[in-house]
Amino acid sequence: MHSDTDQAIIIPFPDPVLERAADQLEQVAGDELISTVTGADVQPAVDDFWLDELADGLSESAWMELDLTRRLPAGLLAALRNEVAILDKTEAMNRAGIGRGTDLVKDRSVRRDKIAWLDGYSEPQRLLFECLEQIREGLNRRLYLGLKRFEAHYATYHPGDFYKRHLDSFRGRASRVVSLVLYLNEDWGLEDGGELRVFSAADSGQMVGQVRPEAGRAVLFLSEQVPHEVLPARRTRYSIACWFRQDEVPLPL
Ligand code: OGA
Ligand code: MN
Repeated sequence: MHSDTDQAIIIPFPDPVLERAADQLEQVAGDELISTVTGADVQPAVDDFWLDELADGLSESAWMELDLTRRLPAGLLAALRNEVAILDKTEAMNRAGIGRGTDLVKDRSVRRDKIAWLDGYSEPQRLLFECLEQIREGLNRRLYLGLKRFEAHYATYHPGDFYKRHLDSFRGRASRVVSLVLYLNEDWGLEDGGELRVFSAADSGQMVGQVRPEAGRAVLFLSEQVPHEVLPARRTRYSIACWFRQDEVPLPL
């Protein structure tokens, strides 16, 4: 059922350059944001009913589309978009690779996005990480997945960039178990391309969904089971890809 590209996995690159960009981020990581999210009327980002829905979606159909606009603190999507837009102008974003260790290749025929790993230090990243942590714990309590941690990177697809059909993890490797991709783009029209195509876990030839990368929209899926692809973007496309993992530390490369 798998083509070669289905087998591709992506390896986190510890990114020293990102640390150098931390100063720049600090300047933009919102005092503004803090003041918008500390009000008493803030809804809990993640509640038990919603976590039930996520767990049901994953166990019943291996993937689901989500709307996080009301789940995330007000202003957070804009603050994250601001961060990635700034990183995109620096040397912090690197071409993403495919494969593992010495097999790692930066194959432009498979994927063309650029990425920067999140470290959770800026205020927007800290708030996002809090939410991801609640999701991790909530899924563990409901599905006994033994998710130990998560990792997340920003991705930028410039016009013409794409990511061919792939899985996020090798079957049985139990590293990346659940994937979550969050989109950060305002007013993303049909003419802008860059949709995420989702294929059936049982039959990778069958498309089961197509998601527009509009701000606040997200997809959640089982990393080892759900093939997906990013169609060529026609305008700069920002997202955050996150993986909940079962291993404490990555396998030695
Ligand atoms: C990935 C990925 C999807 C997207 O980074 O592995 O599939 O829509 N991203 O950005
Ligand atoms: Mn992927």
